[in-house]
Amino acid sequence: MAVEIIDFDEAYRDHRNALVSLHYSAWGGLDDLAAAQRARRSGFPFAPYLGVYAREDHALLSAVFASHYPVTTPDGPETVAGIELVMTRPDATRRGLAGELLREVHRRERGAGRRLSLLCTGRSNLAHELYLKLGYQDIFTPRAALRYIDRPPRKAAARIRVRRAGTRDAPALARVHRRANARALGFARRDARSFRTRFLSGVVAVQNLLLAERRGAVVGYATLEPHSSWNRAAEVIAPTPDVRGALMAALERESRGHWLVFGSDWFSGAGDPELDRCSPLLPSYSVMMACPLAPELRRRNLYQWLRADGRPFACQLLDMF
Ligand SMILES: CC(C)(COP(=O)(O)OP(=O)(O)OC[C@H]1O[C@@H](n2cnc3c(N)ncnc32)[C@H](O)[C@@H]1OP(=O)(O)O)[C@@H](O)C(=O)NCCC(=O)NCCS
Repeated sequence: MAVEIIDFDEAYRDHRNALVSLHYSAWGGLDDLAAAQRARRSGFPFAPYLGVYAREDHALLSAVFASHYPVTTPDGPETVAGIELVMTRPDATRRGLAGELLREVHRRERGAGRRLSLLCTGRSNLAHELYLKLGYQDIFTPRAALRYIDRPPRKAAARIRVRRAGTRDAPALARVHRRANARALGFARRDARSFRTRFLSGVVAVQNLLLAERRGAVVGYATLEPHSSWNRAAEVIAPTPDVRGALMAALERESRGHWLVFGSDWFSGAGDPELDRCSPLLPSYSVMMACPLAPELRRRNLYQWLRADGRPFACQLLDMF
C-alpha cells in the first residue's frame, strides 16, 4: 500500500485512535487535541490544514504541524511558516517520511507566498540532522543566566507598581513588547492576539506574568514560571532602569530560597550590572532554525541576514514555539 498524505481534519475524523497513539509514541503523553481545535477556533495562527499526516493503509505513520508567525526581516515585515510537532512512529523511522511531510509543508507554504520556514529543536536531537539536510540553518540559540536568591529583595522605585497580569492586559503587553523591539529584526511585532491565544491555549499561564505599571500605564513585564527549587523569568521586557528595578525586586521576592533563571535578551549586553550579579551566560542546546523557501533567499547566510546592519534579532520565550 502506498503512503499518502492527508490533512489533520481527515486524520482526526477517520483515524482518531491511530492519531492519538502516534502522538503518544512520539511525545510520551496524550495531547489534548480538543485544545488544539479550540485554539484554532480562537484564532491561534495555525496553517489552515493545521498539520499533515503520512497514512499507509489505516495506519498514521508520521506528522508535521504548521503555524504562521509575523517576523521582521531586512526587507520588512512578513509572515513565515512555523513548523511544530514533527514526529514519526518508532517502527516507521528512516523511511524518509518526516522529510517527505516537511517537503510537502514547504511546497504548500511556498505556494501561499511564505519565504521562510522556522522551527525549534535541540542540537542533539536526531531531527537536527534531518533539518540540515532539508536546507535549514541555525539562526538563534537562547542563552540563560542564573543566580541563587538568598537576600531580601532590593528596594524598587515606589512609582512603579507590579501586579499579576490578566487576559485583558494582552493589548498593553503587545504594545510594550513592540515598543521595546522597535529596532529589532526577528520576532519584533508580536500582536495582542498572539498573547491572548497563548493564554487560551495554555502555552503561558496568565497568572505567571508580572506586569509593571507607571501611573496606570503598562511599562514592562516579566514571565515567572515557578518550579520546586527554581523559577524561570525567560522573558522580561524592562526598557528603563526603574522598570527593571521594580521587576527584579518582584522576581526576587517571589524567588527567595530558589534559583532564579533569566532569559538573556533583555540585558543590555556585556557590562550590564545585572549580568555581573549572575553566573556567565551559557548557550543552550535548543536552537531555532530557518529554511529558505523563496529562491532569492537560498544562497544567504540566514544568521547574518537576520542581524543585518547590527540590528538585534528579537526572539524570546514566547517566540520559541
Ligand atoms: C526525528 C524523527 C521525526 C525522524 O523521523 P523519520 O521519519 O525517521 O525521518 P526521516 O526518515 O525523514 O529522516 C531523515 C534523516 O534524519 C536523520 N535521522 C533520523 N533518524 C535518525 C537516527 N535514528 N539516527 C541517525 N540519524 C537519524 C538522518 O539524517 C536521516 O537521513 P538518512 O536516513 O538518510 O540517514 C523521528 O525519529 C521522531 O519522531 N522522533 C521523536 C520526536 C522528535 O524528536 N521530533 C523532532 C522534534 S524537533
